Amino acid sequence: MIPPSMSSIPLSQPDIGRSEIDAVIDVLNTPTLSIGPKIEEFEHACAKIAGRRHGIGVSSGTAGLHAAMVAAGIKPGDEVITTPFSFVASANCILYVGAKPVFSDIDPQTLNLDPDKAAAAITPRTKAIVAVEAFGNPAGMIEIEQVAQKNELILIEDACEGFGGLFASRPVGSFGRAAVFGFYPNKQITTGEGGMIVTDDDSFAILCRSLRNQGRDGMNWLSHARLGYNYRLCEINAAIGIAQIARLDEILANRRRVAHQYMQRLMINRYLILPTLLDDTHMSWFVFVVRLNDLFEPGDRDTILRELRAEGIGCGNYFPPIHLQPYMEQLLGHKIGDMPVCEYVAARTLALPFFSQMTSSQVDRVCDVLEKVLDRTLISRKGRF
Ligand SMILES: Cc1ncc(COP(=O)(O)O)c(C=O)c1O
Repeated sequence: MIPPSMSSIPLSQPDIGRSEIDAVIDVLNTPTLSIGPKIEEFEHACAKIAGRRHGIGVSSGTAGLHAAMVAAGIKPGDEVITTPFSFVASANCILYVGAKPVFSDIDPQTLNLDPDKAAAAITPRTKAIVAVEAFGNPAGMIEIEQVAQKNELILIEDACEGFGGLFASRPVGSFGRAAVFGFYPNKQITTGEGGMIVTDDDSFAILCRSLRNQGRDGMNWLSHARLGYNYRLCEINAAIGIAQIARLDEILANRRRVAHQYMQRLMINRYLILPTLLDDTHMSWFVFVVRLNDLFEPGDRDTILRELRAEGIGCGNYFPPIHLQPYMEQLLGHKIGDMPVCEYVAARTLALPFFSQMTSSQVDRVCDVLEKVLDRTLISRKGRF
């Protein structure tokens, strides 16, 4: 039971202020609610942040990944290498175009695709790699880019969790043929729902623009050059995105502050493994995920999540392995043990409350409760032996 004096702390919360609300009202006072100046402005701003020439606004990160797969020419019979440790959309986009997701295990430190294992998974049918920055951490992306280049594969960067981050002075979103950002409300910046494809490739950008707008090619509204989709981002969403980008430095500084406080407080905890950041990494901090060490058994993580929730602490089991999701098991015949590193990590990770407006006393309270619950879990297990 949550003590009445303590309000619960959500897992995530969007950072919406007066400027976002005003921006929405301004758009509503115009006759242009879709395909107008706001999306163009938002596209330019996102492309600039990713160091790319083009931005193509779409209705979600998932829509962006699907359009990118189509634009990359991925077809039935093709194989696309991807990580099992992600949100399902990064693998679903491969299925949407009838291709086969080939899961390749992760690096236990970066939690991203292990470049050597990804290289070993290449077959004559492999056409592309969808690489994800798990929890926004771009570590390993340069090595994956090299694997793609060496083997003439198309690299699509699923950057849905990494907006505003940098690795070795390269912005998240600057790797491979194209990258896709997501702007769901738990992300660094949000548009409510929304996403953005960014690329330097002119023809890829033209194709994505057509795909997101029902396959239209030019000015004639009822002429469709190809099979397309309605993946447009409306002016209202785009206006929220512009207002969020105007506050990006402030939002990211706050996320760094919260992450730093968690790090300082939990680095001395002997039961937890904290996020590993390579030297050259500037995280934009999507979530704060900790890992239980070997003193715990896999089932303990879910007990801990239940107990945290019972005390009003929002938390999540980011991420269950994608290859073991019921529909993926059915489709691809995967079983426990196929991706041992991912499965080991996924059984021990837990996402703690994390958002830019989180106060220092909220972080302290999460850590107090977490420490208590970790102790209690280990003590109760000792009692069972
Ligand atoms: C790695 C990753 N890829 C894709 C997506 C899909 O983005 P959206 O929810 O905007 O469709 C998400 C969203 O959570 C994600 O985390």
